[in-house]
Amino acid sequence: MTIRICIAGATGWAGSALARGIAQLDDMAIVAAVSRTHAGRMLGDVLAEPRLNCPVYATALEALAHPCDVFFEFTKPEVAKSNVLAALQHGTHVVIGTSGLTDADYAEIAEAAEGHQRGVLAVGNFALTVVLLQKFAEIAARYIPQWEIIDYAHADKVDAPSGTARELAYRLSQVRPSELSVPLDQTQGLVETRGARLTGSQIHSVRLPGYTISAEIIFGLPDQKLTLRHDSGSSAQPYVDGALLAIRKVNTLVGLQRGLDHVLDLT
Ligand SMILES: NC(=O)c1ccc[n+]([C@@H]2O[C@H](COP(=O)([O-])OP(=O)(O)OC[C@H]3O[C@@H](n4cnc5c(N)ncnc54)[C@H](OP(=O)(O)O)[C@@H]3O)[C@@H](O)[C@H]2O)c1
Repeated sequence: MTIRICIAGATGWAGSALARGIAQLDDMAIVAAVSRTHAGRMLGDVLAEPRLNCPVYATALEALAHPCDVFFEFTKPEVAKSNVLAALQHGTHVVIGTSGLTDADYAEIAEAAEGHQRGVLAVGNFALTVVLLQKFAEIAARYIPQWEIIDYAHADKVDAPSGTARELAYRLSQVRPSELSVPLDQTQGLVETRGARLTGSQIHSVRLPGYTISAEIIFGLPDQKLTLRHDSGSSAQPYVDGALLAIRKVNTLVGLQRGLDHVLDLT
């Protein structure tokens, strides 16, 4: 059976790579797309890919008038939550690739997903090396009580910390909070230089030209430390492979899950 997909953000850097990937498959079809700039056009004309024979709309609500099985969110944090809630109301499963949603946003989405008995899979980073970093970090956090996260990205990334860092901090919070030898309120000097405390982890976000996306976590013990680091290349291909897997598997879920490993067998 063909999986019918609506992609919000299908003309963006990540969404267009995903759309081109789907165009090559027989078991999936994009039935509607969202982009304000290209509304009223056919996605195939915008992306010069004739197999993408579907209309582009300015809003998710218009696009969702087309029946679909999976709504894929790849836009910007300011519209992502309302797009996802609208998709759930229309009875579709949802994959969230957009970064910048808060834990409070996810709590609201989780409730809506349960209410509508649909699956939502939110993945801060679809790359396999990030999925593995998260898993290894969860194991390390069981044995090492102190760590800090550093998130590196290109200068014009608008959200901080990155979705990858947020998701990592959230997952480690399920293990335990990172201990601080000096409590933040006892810091002498500028407490901001200690980074932001998010769900029990200190996070430092670097935004500079020259970076693509990297995520690093350092675990420290007396006289020893462990560094786990992921670095993205310049192509969106690692995200496409993970996103296609998420689309295939999201209908096996009910409620919200965060992280691609929920649909991978990593045991
Ligand atoms: N999870 C992952 O592995 C992963 C990988 C890559 C990127 N991301 C995240 O995915 C998101 C998109 O990244 P990107 O690099 O592809 O961004 P981008 O190139 O700027 O593309 C954004 C897309 O969303 C559309 N859009 C933006 N605002 C919109 C709005 N208000 N209403 C409707 N459509 C809107 C844009 O079209 P118009 O401007 O024409 O509306 C465009 O198609 C970001 O949050 C990024 O951090 C996640």
